[in-house]
Amino acid sequence: MHSIEQYREEFITHLEQKVGTREPKKLYDPIVYILGLGGKRLRPVLTLMTTEIFGTDYKKALHAALAIEVFHNFSLVHDDIMDDAPLRRGQRTVHEKWDINTGILSGDAMLILAYQLFENYPSDTFRELAELFSKTALEVCEGQQYDMDFETREDVTVPEYLHMIEYKTAVLVAAAMKMGGIIAGASLKDQNLIYEFGKNLGIAFQLQDDYLDAFGDPKTFGKQVGGDIIENKKTILYLSALQLGSAEEQKEILDLYSIQPQDVAEKIKTVKTVFISSGAAKHTKTEIGNYTEKAFEVLNVLNISDEKKAMLKQFGENLMKRKV
Ligand code: IPE
Ligand code: IPE
Ligand code: MG
Ligand code: MG
Ligand code: MG
Repeated sequence: MHSIEQYREEFITHLEQKVGTREPKKLYDPIVYILGLGGKRLRPVLTLMTTEIFGTDYKKALHAALAIEVFHNFSLVHDDIMDDAPLRRGQRTVHEKWDINTGILSGDAMLILAYQLFENYPSDTFRELAELFSKTALEVCEGQQYDMDFETREDVTVPEYLHMIEYKTAVLVAAAMKMGGIIAGASLKDQNLIYEFGKNLGIAFQLQDDYLDAFGDPKTFGKQVGGDIIENKKTILYLSALQLGSAEEQKEILDLYSIQPQDVAEKIKTVKTVFISSGAAKHTKTEIGNYTEKAFEVLNVLNISDEKKAMLKQFGENLMKRKV
């Protein structure tokens, strides 16, 4: 096995070889820009790592890993338009640096490029990867639509929220890992187990993303802190505040999420205070731990060595500690 840092470096080398600009510049420059801004490279690292966990040279998975990362970055370009987000990885978002039309078309091209990368595999593997990818990509769209629908709804339930984050975020993490299983020719049982592991880890990951959106350090977070509060996103923090808060706290949250006040900084400040005083912030931390633990339970029945299980656990624990 290799270290996480080695997978990441190999992946970046591969990405830099494969992604370059060409004409028309206004289509390809934003693609090079967003993919060059870095990010944690979580999903491609998982694809490479899973391939090796199931006993195959991780290099065989580089095309699939790149497809996953290109798709992820496509979803971010469009997500930033939908969320009206100014910052991504500490830099201007694509639609801010260029314009919305550029973000739409460069994003579309990235989705197609992602599909094209699977053409590097023999036909049986291609079919399996493409099938999983299409299913996953459609689910991500469904999750994104629920996320938008919830902005203007006041009666979103926790199960509805969990379904939304499973689709917008967790299934891609799960698919990134299952692709490693497909490329390595793992048994269907193991492929499905690693998918379950990735899905629970992905849910924990999005809970943490919601937490950091409010409580991240603006100096290092890389995104606009409080963006979800401005957009009235029905996150775990919001739903928990409504469940755990006093009548007064509930009213405060409901009022602030039903209007768009002039002073957004004041709105963010008040909402964050309620997230803490109601116990919503603490509850979110607990749930992040619970879903990470749920992922780890899947490892008990997975047919791999203890050393490999420990590596996956380490990965999950590091994700919980992340600040970006
Ligand atoms: C951001 O994903 C979008 C979510 C699904 C929460 P990441 O936090 O993995 O973003 P990068 O790629 O590391 O910037
Ligand atoms: C991201 O959700 C989900 C997808 C991009 C599919 P968010 O909107 O919470 O992601 P960030 O916080 O902007 O990275
Ligand atoms: Mg967003
Ligand atoms: Mg969003
Ligand atoms: Mg977010």
